[in-house]
Amino acid sequence: MSGRGFETRPPASGAPQPAGAGAAGLRLDGEPRFAWRGVMLDVARRFRPVADLERFIELLADHGLNVLQLHLTDDQGWRFEVRAYPRLTEVGGRRSQTQLGHGPRSTLDGVPHEGWYTQHELRGLVRFAAERGIRIVPEIDVPGHAQSILAAYPEFGVGGADAVRERVAEPWPRFGVSDEVLNVEDATLEFIGTVFDELCEVFDSELVGLGGDEVRKDRWRGDERTQQLMVERGLADEDELQSWFLAQIADRVRGHGRRVVGWDEMLEGRDPAPDAVVASWRGPVGAELGARLGHEVVLCPDLWTYFDYRQSERDDEPIPVGTVLSLEDVGTFDPVPAGAPRWFADRVVGVQANVWCEHLDGRDRLDYAVFPRLGAFAEVAWNGGPLDWSDFEGRLPSYLAWLEEQGVDYRPLAGPRPEQQRPGVPGVPRDRADRLAELARLTANL
Ligand code: ACM
Repeated sequence: MSGRGFETRPPASGAPQPAGAGAAGLRLDGEPRFAWRGVMLDVARRFRPVADLERFIELLADHGLNVLQLHLTDDQGWRFEVRAYPRLTEVGGRRSQTQLGHGPRSTLDGVPHEGWYTQHELRGLVRFAAERGIRIVPEIDVPGHAQSILAAYPEFGVGGADAVRERVAEPWPRFGVSDEVLNVEDATLEFIGTVFDELCEVFDSELVGLGGDEVRKDRWRGDERTQQLMVERGLADEDELQSWFLAQIADRVRGHGRRVVGWDEMLEGRDPAPDAVVASWRGPVGAELGARLGHEVVLCPDLWTYFDYRQSERDDEPIPVGTVLSLEDVGTFDPVPAGAPRWFADRVVGVQANVWCEHLDGRDRLDYAVFPRLGAFAEVAWNGGPLDWSDFEGRLPSYLAWLEEQGVDYRPLAGPRPEQQRPGVPGVPRDRADRLAELARLTANL
């Protein structure tokens, strides 16, 4: 990546950025507007074989994208081999069953789900990606989204190992966010520091993800020992405790010559790391605060870039969750509108589409969610602004034909084919106004 004092090291192979090499019908001309043109893939909820990741990386490169953020851990599964803590994968990498559908009518499928990547495999994947101009940014999500850790090592949870064992039998088979968070003992910070040490050895990215999103702080609030540690450390509240926790990891990572990227919740409390990149997903508030504080910012607002969200109002959209994000909606994404103040525009280093995989089990489901929306996103990421829709529409047939040639099981413009539907599997469609009100509530403490 170049141009913004950020990720300045070339990919290991020295391969040049592919200027839209591959995908027919896309307009990716001249120099890209953003240094970070990313996709986040959630392999925690759904483990995928390395061959599937390689295919995905090739498709990203064909779209002129250059970052793959790998979400390697979550409540539902831990996918990164840590040599010092083998139970993270042996126990945290397997759940006995998985939620099917969303909301109150969801069920459990009774089918075990497991898998994890060895360090050897991941080093190979880093090389494979670098040869195609893609930087892999690994993410370990802490201190929340921690149930898979606690299934393996209950001593790192709140209330002591015995209490955690009573609450946590295995990684969470349900979706949503579990109440489980890490405790804030020195030993826990040392444990997670070791995990990040190994992460930095395997991945060569300047940026390393530490999560920081959706931490359920009630466990900390209700725990006497946590409250005592907060007092000893001079921390006023749980937001400051979260900042303190994230700051320890940022320091550890800095020791490897790296920096952290975290979700915008990382700015609750105190600013944990002035050199952190902020990935802003909950509307504009986190991005604006991050920019004001001098952070580099990657924009991934859910209403425009969450590719698990449903693609139309149709009843036959498979497992419809989130607000409607049609192909045309993706093309209206305007990351830095004309007239945006310099203090903001100069801090936006990139955009990212996030592919959460709770409801995207197989490769066909992933293809359906990602394509052709990724084509519109790639043009926004490369060219910097919303699409001229009629121009894009004119080029769509050749893009879709190219996807077809690649064997991509994309969503047809007219709606899902019968085999792409999931009749009887419930979703929870969201309304845009309702989601906007929720985002305002969620970001009120920033
Ligand atoms: C997120 O969607 N929890 C970053």
